[in-house]
Amino acid sequence: MIDAIAARLAEKGAPGFRPKVAVILGSGLGGFADEVKPVAAIPYGELPGFPQTTVGSHAGRLVLGHVGPTPVAVLQGRAHYYERGKADEMRGAIRAVAELGCETLLQTNAAGSLRLDMPPGSVMAISDHINFAGINPLFGAGPGDSRFVDMVDAYDPTLLKKLMAAAHTANVRCHDGVYIFFSGPSFETPAEIRAARVLGADAVGMSTAPETILARHAGLKVVALSLMTNYAAGLVPGALGHEQTLAVANAASSDVRRLLRVFLETY
Ligand code: HPA
Repeated sequence: MIDAIAARLAEKGAPGFRPKVAVILGSGLGGFADEVKPVAAIPYGELPGFPQTTVGSHAGRLVLGHVGPTPVAVLQGRAHYYERGKADEMRGAIRAVAELGCETLLQTNAAGSLRLDMPPGSVMAISDHINFAGINPLFGAGPGDSRFVDMVDAYDPTLLKKLMAAAHTANVRCHDGVYIFFSGPSFETPAEIRAARVLGADAVGMSTAPETILARHAGLKVVALSLMTNYAAGLVPGALGHEQTLAVANAASSDVRRLLRVFLETY
């Protein structure tokens, strides 16, 4: 798969392009790819091992280029566990960006808020995650001991501080907290969310945790950001829907874009 990317880079006159940071853009946040001064953009369909995304708002393109002086590899669209019941959907893509030279994976996602002080539109840097979904993207990985990945400081504390500093510079209020992964695609029940609060979660979503595990396995540092698109089930009256996720993500995406731009420009 690296060969396919190298061939495209050579074709575009940038054979030595070596991205430093890989970025995964979550639901409704794909527009950040416009901030990249592109060197090449390659549909996932042309890249063996990359996922075929089935969520409408996920474009499914690898965009290679620069944000300020920083060379980046933007994964515009992710595949989720719930799409095919495969926890390692993003394995090929994450391996590829690691092989290309990336040292860090910056993830974004849309999430539900478990905190009344983080209303829809709020931004939260992820300090840790809870994966009690009973699945792991490293099932079947191995043999050998590399599958026993250490998850202490999985979200790099230094990069977390840099992300908070970037938010300050970009004039975006940024909380920090724990993200809990649920498999989806159905939303959580109010009872599940009450349980998640007791467990220490601040935000809930259907992605990110598997990708963090895959990235740590591939030797990448991880830093991640959630955009709250709704209060989680039962926190306030009313039903949940994917349309709201997209509408709020689109409305608040300019804050996230600014923050990501500052973080990457000064990386
Ligand atoms: N739950 C799970 N995933 C989500 C939510 C939610 O409330 N909002 C956006 N993604």
